[in-house]
Amino acid sequence: FTLPIVATVVAYLIGSLSFAVIVSAVMGLNDPRTYGSGNPGATNVLRSGSKAAAALTLLLDAVKGLVPVLLVKYVGPDYGLHDGTLALVAIGAFLGHLFPVFFKFKGGKGVATALGVLLGISGWLGLLVLLTWLAVALTTRYSSLSALVAAVLAPVYYVLLGGSLWNYDQSVLLAVIAMSALLLWRHAENIGRLLRGQESKIGSKKDKPA
Ligand code: G3P
Repeated sequence: FTLPIVATVVAYLIGSLSFAVIVSAVMGLNDPRTYGSGNPGATNVLRSGSKAAAALTLLLDAVKGLVPVLLVKYVGPDYGLHDGTLALVAIGAFLGHLFPVFFKFKGGKGVATALGVLLGISGWLGLLVLLTWLAVALTTRYSSLSALVAAVLAPVYYVLLGGSLWNYDQSVLLAVIAMSALLLWRHAENIGRLLRGQESKIGSKKDKPA
């Protein structure tokens, strides 16, 4: 009974490492919470002009979602942990990114961390979501819109994959749906900007209001 809770809390603490802020500080860049959209995420770090910092933020924010899920998936069964714990750990890491205990609970929007979590749940699922993000990003150059489309499709992909490649689990499906719903909610301002035609495109020099 206690081990699933401990695993979830540890996942939350790992998720709370806001790598946009950490990487920027280590690389001597401005705090991403002070420019652009103000969001501590890879997209906003890119607005600093440092592609390396943005790539590193994306990678580390994804890894912090991936690693806890993979640990529960492959090591968990030896300790009696199964899909219910996997779902809890997935949500724990994701919530850590959104509400980091180390950063006054002001975190990011969850795109990179969700991608890592989904890759951990199923490589195919993560790959489909990543390809969806890339397809929309290459067509529209809106990072937020790409994330929104990918988030809506993630639960659909999960169920479809369960039909053919892999039997899906209800608790994991719930976790995937919850992550997508939270991700959409965190993009409320982006949705407003997209509707008003004010969202900044990837690579555009123009900064958005914080
Ligand atoms: O990764 C978050 C992205 O979807 C939007 O970020 O900074 O444009 O609000 P941002």
